[in-house]
Amino acid sequence: MNIQEYLTAEDAAWAEQVIRKIHDKLLVVRERSADKIPSGAIDGVYDDKMKEEGPLGRTKTFWTNGFWAGILLQLYSVTKDERYAEIARFTEDILHDCLSEAEGLATHDIGYLFLPSAALDYKITGSPKALNDASVAANLLAGRFNPAGNYIRAWNGDTLPGFAPGDPEMHTVGLAIIDCMLNLPLLYWASETTKDPRYRLIAMRHADTTMKHFIREDGSVIHIVEFDPETGMYINDFGGQGYQKGSAWARGQSWGLYGFTASYKHTEKQEYLDTARKIAAFFIANIPSDGLVPEDFRQPAEPWAQDDIAACAASCGLIELTGLVPEEEGRPYLEAALRMLKAIDAKSADWNPETDGITMRGTTAYHVRDKVHGWNKNYVYADYFFIEALLKLKGQGIYIW
Ligand code: GLY
Repeated sequence: MNIQEYLTAEDAAWAEQVIRKIHDKLLVVRERSADKIPSGAIDGVYDDKMKEEGPLGRTKTFWTNGFWAGILLQLYSVTKDERYAEIARFTEDILHDCLSEAEGLATHDIGYLFLPSAALDYKITGSPKALNDASVAANLLAGRFNPAGNYIRAWNGDTLPGFAPGDPEMHTVGLAIIDCMLNLPLLYWASETTKDPRYRLIAMRHADTTMKHFIREDGSVIHIVEFDPETGMYINDFGGQGYQKGSAWARGQSWGLYGFTASYKHTEKQEYLDTARKIAAFFIANIPSDGLVPEDFRQPAEPWAQDDIAACAASCGLIELTGLVPEEEGRPYLEAALRMLKAIDAKSADWNPETDGITMRGTTAYHVRDKVHGWNKNYVYADYFFIEALLKLKGQGIYIW
């Protein structure tokens, strides 16, 4: 059964009116941001990753820079309004130029950068340039694979200062992170496009390592694991962007949930579906009664760091999962997604077209609290996943993961 058949008339009508609000708002917001690559809104105005200074062109390749194009291209796929594609290509052209400065793209996040931009453009239009860019990006991602530990290296750089409290000297060469589960679809896409299995095989090796070392017995997930890059032996794990070591960073849960769901869709490996189910059970059991998701499911009750990004990405994963399992199992997944999305619409959304951004309370990291990467603010990728989830409810949009 498809998702639309599970929705009550009331839920379908709610989704319909939210999608209308999305279209109404984006028609205005897109013009104000036609020559920007926003990562989020500050006081109702999108920032611009093109105007920030950064080493090695890394503001141009900031890991969320594909999501604005993703919003525009998903809406283009629905409306066929060429202006959406035109604005998306502003981002695509900049990311294209970055492909020749590989150091700026020395990150596993190349999936988050190119799946919602070039790969999505290619799926909609068949553009040869988009095909080329997504293919080069897939090769850069495959090149990050370490065959000793069967993991994709997360980041480059000697150390990762300030990221995991208490571990300022953590070296990046042996680090893998749960977030990478949703970068793997760039490798699945490359194998499906080229008919060369190597990309998929690398993705599956990484997913298998993630199953073994990141997923706890209770279904919660670890953010960062360090391996010995020569032997592949597990060394340590870290709380990363969550509250602390041993806690349950909500967005990490959503990357795992959606990532294993995607890996199952591309490979049909049963263990990936079972892992997605296990993470989903933990996630759903921990959604607060008001439907608004915290930054970390094990953070102190006060002060309240909320993560709409986690709620929206998990909702996308739960909606996909609904379609992959028997009806009695799938309905609670869909209900949990609806509870989170409705809570954001009612209590955490800005529908005023005069201000940028839709979801108002995302948090990037528990221990970072500034104006740009702070607590309880708008992030463009929360909006991307919110829009993707709503379009899924209506059977619209393009599946990119
Ligand atoms: N992938 C980085 C984050 O979720 O913040």
